Amino acid sequence: MPKSKQTLCIVGLGYVGLPLAHAFAKKGFTILGYDIQEDRILELQSGKDRTNELSTKELKSANIEFSSDPSVIKKADVVILAIPTPVDADNNPDLSLLKNATETVAKNVQEGAIVVYESTVYPGVTEEICGPILKKEKSVKLGYSPERMNPGDKEHTVEKIVKVVAGEDEETANILMEMYGAIAPVHRAQSIKVAEMAKAIENAQRDLNIAYINEIAMLCNALDISSKDVFDAAKTKWNFLNFSPGLVGGHCIGVDPYYLLKAAQDKGIISNMISAARKTNDGIAHYITQSQILPRLREKKDISVLILGTTFKENVPDTRNSKSNDIVTEFKKEGISVSMHDAQVDDNDALEKENSYDAILLLVPHKEYLTMTPEEFAKTAKEGCIFFDLKSVFNAKEMEKAGFTYLAL
Ligand SMILES: NC(=O)c1ccc[n+]([C@@H]2O[C@H](COP(=O)([O-])OP(=O)(O)OC[C@H]3O[C@@H](n4cnc5c(N)ncnc54)[C@H](O)[C@@H]3O)[C@@H](O)[C@H]2O)c1
Repeated sequence: MPKSKQTLCIVGLGYVGLPLAHAFAKKGFTILGYDIQEDRILELQSGKDRTNELSTKELKSANIEFSSDPSVIKKADVVILAIPTPVDADNNPDLSLLKNATETVAKNVQEGAIVVYESTVYPGVTEEICGPILKKEKSVKLGYSPERMNPGDKEHTVEKIVKVVAGEDEETANILMEMYGAIAPVHRAQSIKVAEMAKAIENAQRDLNIAYINEIAMLCNALDISSKDVFDAAKTKWNFLNFSPGLVGGHCIGVDPYYLLKAAQDKGIISNMISAARKTNDGIAHYITQSQILPRLREKKDISVLILGTTFKENVPDTRNSKSNDIVTEFKKEGISVSMHDAQVDDNDALEKENSYDAILLLVPHKEYLTMTPEEFAKTAKEGCIFFDLKSVFNAKEMEKAGFTYLAL
């Protein structure tokens, strides 16, 4: 190598891999996109992206060769892996998908290529777990550049977010700094482990901050004070951090701290703060149903609730690890009838049923819900219906005027 515009193969074309492929393609790199899912490749070839990260126009104009044939990896000077890194049922890091993809790359990659990981991991995964799989088959160089994109966020796009870049040696780091520098501002991390650790702590920090705000919101409820009013007042101080209470689902903030915990456990370190934040945030669905909603429905018969929003956050169609499911499960355990509607995922008639619900829970305030009036929601409500506005996006007084008992976290 090094040459100014390498041929890149992006392995894993999901929320992270596809926008990345597009960003490089726009800058004139030759881009191959490989994914194990044939139906994903077929839809991308036809100009459709189910993640809504790229429009049909963007996809059709992007010069990307999509393929489900791993032999395309051979053509690349640099291979970038954007593969899921979930946790298992016991919340332990599950690296099986990453290892499988690494095996595929090892078999197909050309000698001398650079293999970069973008997946979120704990320090050591790139060099101590993936590296040996690759180097057993081929002589390659390793890099790591954590992805920090935020799906559904059209402001903080790949091109605007600083890319942290690391390579296993000086030459590799230099090549990667130049390559990533073509699409985004770059920060050179001193080592691959530094870059891995930086990503893991960013998301764990968000988890901790949200856990604190969730704990305060629960305390405000117990004290019968509006948490929104408290946060609005506290936010006026220049150094009060602006976080909102909420359910922490998805596959990043609710998952990555477990990767950090695993790194701590391996070293015999007890990380009380990270564990406590996870516990608090994982308990919010239970708190909402058991402490906020159910005690107010006890007197009613044939209870029916409507859940609005089943994705893990607003304005994305991604339902993976959505905490709305935990709330649905809690209600169902109590024998309560639950209807669900998600403006980004399905188009059922749950919002058109008149006089139907004893409680409406707006868990994910997609933009479509924000355009609805209190009266429109009220049409679907039975007498004395609760409107639970998780993120306090509606005006309490207006909701009460429309006939609701208004609650928020
Ligand atoms: N989505 C986010 O918001 C986000 C943000 C920053 C970092 N990350 C991290 O980036 C990584 C990828 O996340 P994502 O959200 O893009 O996942 P995703 O599930 O949207 O996409 C992953 C893609 O990898 C493909 N894949 C799985 N195994 C494969 C294999 N062996 N070979 C080829 N393709 C394979 C899947 O088919 C899928 O299309 C994870 O580590 C995640 O934590 C995600």
